[in-house]
Amino acid sequence: MAVDGTAISADSSHAYVPPQATDSRSPCPALNILANHGYLPRDGRALTKDMLYQAVKQVFNVDARPFSLNKIFYARDDPAHPEGLLLPGKDTIDLEDLNLPNKVEHEVSLTRHDRHLADSNKPDPALVAALKAATSSSTTTHLTATDITRHRVTRYAHSKQHNAQNMVYTTKELVLSLGQDAFILYVFGRDGMIPLEYIDDFFLLERIPNGWTKREQEFNFNSMVPLVASGLARFKWATLW
Ligand code: HEM
Repeated sequence: MAVDGTAISADSSHAYVPPQATDSRSPCPALNILANHGYLPRDGRALTKDMLYQAVKQVFNVDARPFSLNKIFYARDDPAHPEGLLLPGKDTIDLEDLNLPNKVEHEVSLTRHDRHLADSNKPDPALVAALKAATSSSTTTHLTATDITRHRVTRYAHSKQHNAQNMVYTTKELVLSLGQDAFILYVFGRDGMIPLEYIDDFFLLERIPNGWTKREQEFNFNSMVPLVASGLARFKWATLW
């Protein structure tokens, strides 16, 4: 495991190994990467809140507790909410449980289809290519926040056209989406730009991108807010008319 500011390269215990057919995987590329590199159990099963927290923190330097983790494991942490969010009363999840609809999973994803149109758990290479093609003419080697919004708006228009009957995309799902955009902009971006060469590794092969280094400063709720706020303004502006 590399220390902050140095390249994270797969060592013998954290080599990249694509999943077996019986392994559990999620609609989240980051969590799948953690399993593919052995920072989570490689079968992606019986994960506790603490295992998820530790792995996300160790590899990406993100404190995931204020985001989805405290909600997913509601039942264990908060007796006032025994209904839980994801799996009521359970202390562990398998990665595929994160694909339960309209909890943390949502429509209008960057690289996954709406569940009524196709597989919502696995990336579609055509959508990954479309995300890369959203790069603006001035930065054809990188993706910016504006580029990612451009792709999100295209995905939204597609869902409205082909999935209007089933589509659920309220402010909650939009904010979740923008939070995921913020994760990659912070973790993989520098000066607001993500190298295009990271995109296939992250979204398609689900492995730690070659040459990527972990940020020294932790990403937490305070770092999330301005990124989500500006994403919200861009998305609302683009879809206003
Ligand atoms: C324990 C922490 C996390 C949980 C529970 C979680 C859960 C999820 C879930 C359920 C989705 C599916 C949303 C959808 O339907 O599109 C998702 C998507 C996503 N996650 Fe995570 N995630 C976590 C951490 C992270 C981190 C640390 C990163 C970045 C390093 C990340 C990046 C993403 C991205 C970019 C997507 C969007 C995929 C797409 O739209 O194609 N996540 N996450």
